[in-house]
Amino acid sequence: MCGIIGYVGSRQAMPILLNGLKRMEYRGYDSAGISIIKDHELHCLKRSGKINGFEKALQKHPFDGTTGIAHTRWATHGAPSVINAHPHSDCKGRLSLVHNGIIENYQALKKELSDQGHLFKTETDTEVLVHLIEEFWDKNTSLEEAIRLALSQVKGTYGIALISTENPDVIYVARSGSPLVLGISQGENFVASDVAALISHTKEVTYLDDGEMAVLSADAIQVKTITDKPVSKKVEKIGFDLEKIEKSGYDHFMLKEIMEQPKTIADTMRGRLLENEGTAKLGGIEHDFESLLYARRLLLTACGTSWHAALLGEYMLEEYLRIPTEVEYASEFRYRNPILDRDTVVIVLSQSGETADTLAAIREAKKRGAKVYGVCNVVGSSIARATDAGVYLHVGPEIGVASTKAFTSQVAVLGLITLFLARKKSMPQKQGKRIVEEMKKLPEKIARILEHNSLIREIAEEYQKKTNFLYLGRGYNFPVALEGALKLKEISYVHAEGYPAAEMKHGPIALIDENMPVVFIAMQDSSYDKIISNIQEVRARKGCVIAIATEGDENINQHADHVVYVPEAPECLEPILTSIPLQLLAYHIAVLRGCDVDQPRNLAKSVTVE
Ligand code: G6P
Repeated sequence: MCGIIGYVGSRQAMPILLNGLKRMEYRGYDSAGISIIKDHELHCLKRSGKINGFEKALQKHPFDGTTGIAHTRWATHGAPSVINAHPHSDCKGRLSLVHNGIIENYQALKKELSDQGHLFKTETDTEVLVHLIEEFWDKNTSLEEAIRLALSQVKGTYGIALISTENPDVIYVARSGSPLVLGISQGENFVASDVAALISHTKEVTYLDDGEMAVLSADAIQVKTITDKPVSKKVEKIGFDLEKIEKSGYDHFMLKEIMEQPKTIADTMRGRLLENEGTAKLGGIEHDFESLLYARRLLLTACGTSWHAALLGEYMLEEYLRIPTEVEYASEFRYRNPILDRDTVVIVLSQSGETADTLAAIREAKKRGAKVYGVCNVVGSSIARATDAGVYLHVGPEIGVASTKAFTSQVAVLGLITLFLARKKSMPQKQGKRIVEEMKKLPEKIARILEHNSLIREIAEEYQKKTNFLYLGRGYNFPVALEGALKLKEISYVHAEGYPAAEMKHGPIALIDENMPVVFIAMQDSSYDKIISNIQEVRARKGCVIAIATEGDENINQHADHVVYVPEAPECLEPILTSIPLQLLAYHIAVLRGCDVDQPRNLAKSVTVE
């Protein structure tokens, strides 16, 4: 979603800001804008649409200046137009503000400020904030104090950066519920909502916490609370380099991330598999695992693809721990008066660690006395910090909006957690050792699946024009069917539904005819015979069948129009393999249909609004 970058130093700000915006493109946006100060004057340019167009416009109006802020906006309040794009300005044109988040009480504030004579030009909630700051500033307070007073009146979430013509060598920033990170360098400093925007300039960063603000100049960063108490912050190192956020020769980030999976799965498991003991070593929870082990109920909550991983967690945890486990959409969980107590332990999953609904679910769970564990990818993210303990994925930045490598590693982490807890409980060492052995084989097995890329592309060519797809699976492969369908929907805009295969006859079977491709995950596991019967039911109605099947299963050929083979694995680990051909199928169909694979329309990588 929205992205913020700000620069103060001695270099020209424009190219730095533009580069920062490009690095955050993956988050999803629909307009962009920039403000730079030169000779005590603000120069601002905004455009709707993609950065390419914005860059061309900037080339025609290059701005000089060494202090500036820029923003990519994902529309919430008001259409994605030039006028609604950030930065926004006060009445006298002395302030320029970019904002991520939502000002919930903007209507009441807007009315008050309009009555006081402020003129509004946009439909955004953000514009209210800049006028509110102006209002306080005009009452003879310092600008810093005016920001503080304005923020104390705001309800909602924000990460803001503000520049002013009066203090042209300073950027003011503040955070509540919307991430901001400060980049520290020699004679220059940065602010961004995403470390990806900073990595080409510095690796030294400080994460602002909720309720903090900072004043950045070229040589200093001063952090305080919004209530004006000094704060001393830790300087941290960004744990990845530029190469991780570049395409490295691939046409799209999504393809790169799919292809990276032999390595990312290995990275997730690195140092965490104890062969001799037949268990997992999880530094993030081993000091604090009793509540999980003795929980009377486990509740997993997440959104989107992470929710599908959570479903797989439910299957694993119930199978091996025998603890009743439920999965809830984070957005539903927090609003339906959930039953939670000290005996219920919550596990949240989030790749970005910033999803607003998931964060809100954590707050709700904690309020009700539950302990909350996290499974996140982004180190230092809001969710990672809001949870009591947790496990990181360690797959590096995921740039493609449609989650791929994070999903498989979320499942692997849930597998590791299950193994760790089950061994503490009742799983015999021998069984633990077998699971460890099988987990170790995953990277090589994934590499084998990726060799079928051209076959999958051929299948995609045949079906690219179809407008509906059905994905069916049973047991552990039911959530995989959901995930396969979501991938296709997200990036190719083709309607697709995932269903438990046996449920097909209670509805979706009515849709089946020669125009309906049905993707079956038909592994030779405990549900194989049943799924073959479901395939027959589709074939009897002229549906076309694409089967994801176990290597060596010749029998499947007589039942399916196309077969993509996947190496065998214990059922609980199958999803890490069977989801990969579905990622590739979605990818190729989207590319063939000419879709913007990495930045699908309307979607955002990090959904920071509820
Ligand atoms: C967005 C993304 C999805 C992602 C979901 C949850 O909708 O487009 O790919 O699965 O958010 O994100 P999280 O970062 O919490 O896993």
